Amino acid sequence: MEYQDIADDLTSVLLTEQQIHEKIAELSRRIEADYAGERLLLVGVLRGAVMVMADLARELKLPIEMDWMAVSSYGSGTQSSGVVRILKDLDSDLQGRKVLIVEDIIDSGLTLSWLRANLESRGAASVEICALLRKPDAAKVAVDVRYIGFEIPNAFVVGYGLDYAEKYRNFRDIGVLAPHVYES
Ligand code: IMP
Repeated sequence: MEYQDIADDLTSVLLTEQQIHEKIAELSRRIEADYAGERLLLVGVLRGAVMVMADLARELKLPIEMDWMAVSSYGSGTQSSGVVRILKDLDSDLQGRKVLIVEDIIDSGLTLSWLRANLESRGAASVEICALLRKPDAAKVAVDVRYIGFEIPNAFVVGYGLDYAEKYRNFRDIGVLAPHVYES
């Protein structure tokens, strides 16, 4: 889906598909250097991280494995509840594994700090985080994120996997959702 298909629902385009792909290539080069010779497990957080995971995994010139977790900290609103529930757990045994959590966005950071502790407690050799976007509020929770794509303003964004009430995930760019969409 392209800008003209949802133009009325956006106030602006924040990041274009091209900017996103350039950033993913940049992050991939860093990850390749850090994990050369390792057996890396990418853990994608459903559903928002699907696009980041698909592009990052294909860009990486490393043998990787992929697994998925689904957690929920949001309803259909735009505020983090701080409550994390596992909706789908991993299939992989993490004992001794080098794990890289792949996330779309860090807002309050509550989801990720919980997730990292949870994966560490399963005996992983290391658990690092790669997030495409980070909002300013993330500074309030001390989550050490090794790979960050873009620092963005505190707005509700959609596209490239990010949704509002399950819509807009297939928008190719990332845009700021117009208030009339969630206020109506
Ligand atoms: P946190 O626990 O507040 O960091 O919430 C992170 C999760 O909230 C992300 O994985 C997203 O699913 C969702 N989220 C936070 N901000 C946005 C946004 O601007 N657009 C869409 N989803 C968001």
